[in-house]
Amino acid sequence: MRRKLVVGNWKMHGSLAQNKALIASLIANLRDLKNADFAVCVPHPYLFQAQALLQGTNIAWGGQHVSRFEQGAYTGSVSARMLADFGCTYAIIGHSERRVFMHETNMTAATSFGAALKAGLTPIFCVGETLEEREAGVTEAVVESQLIAILNTLGAQVLSEAVQQRAVLAYEPVWAIGTGKTAAPEQAQAMHAFIRRKIAERDSGVAARVRILYGGSVKPSNASQLFAMPDIDGGLVGRCSLDPNDFKEICRAAC
Ligand code: PGA
Repeated sequence: MRRKLVVGNWKMHGSLAQNKALIASLIANLRDLKNADFAVCVPHPYLFQAQALLQGTNIAWGGQHVSRFEQGAYTGSVSARMLADFGCTYAIIGHSERRVFMHETNMTAATSFGAALKAGLTPIFCVGETLEEREAGVTEAVVESQLIAILNTLGAQVLSEAVQQRAVLAYEPVWAIGTGKTAAPEQAQAMHAFIRRKIAERDSGVAARVRILYGGSVKPSNASQLFAMPDIDGGLVGRCSLDPNDFKEICRAAC
């Protein structure tokens, strides 16, 4: 049985004062929830604050991106090792907003996935199709190519390294992110099952163990139905992770 995981993706929101209040509420709200794992992925400048406030609680923390380079003259970049330095457990990799606005590609996302593993982080690797791709009937082909990029870029041995570090996948249909439109539970389940099947073609042990989160307008009103699906192992939550009561309800649905 895979333990469920709920990760808040704060995106580019927050301030020292706002985070302090939000984290205090999250700690109080989630303290008694024991049957799932929880984390928040915060903007890089706030990692120190997240570490200071969340240490010793049942909420882990992480970054929203890591450079594909280890170190060097890459102005503005943040390495996986730097995230590890601030006690991060997780790093979101290849989020669709980074693919669209920062021109990340399957190859760069896959390389960042490898960099995160090398630094001892648990990558949360995002895949998902746009509305145009869904309407064109190429959803499975798009998601498969995003997954295969990891193997093509890093080689087949990446699967065993990934499972050792409990790597996580996130299926996030781009048309559902931040739009209030959620994939129907059955629609999401079908894609999660597809992703697990594709991994099982390479390694059935890895497929059985890997956690696959759903992301895209997860909210208190739909979390229970989504999390009840057999291949949905939790959620990657944007907007509702900024509201401590909404996030609490979503986390409770995972328990
Ligand atoms: P949303 O974002 O919950 O606001 O749709 C999800 C995500 O982008 O990870």
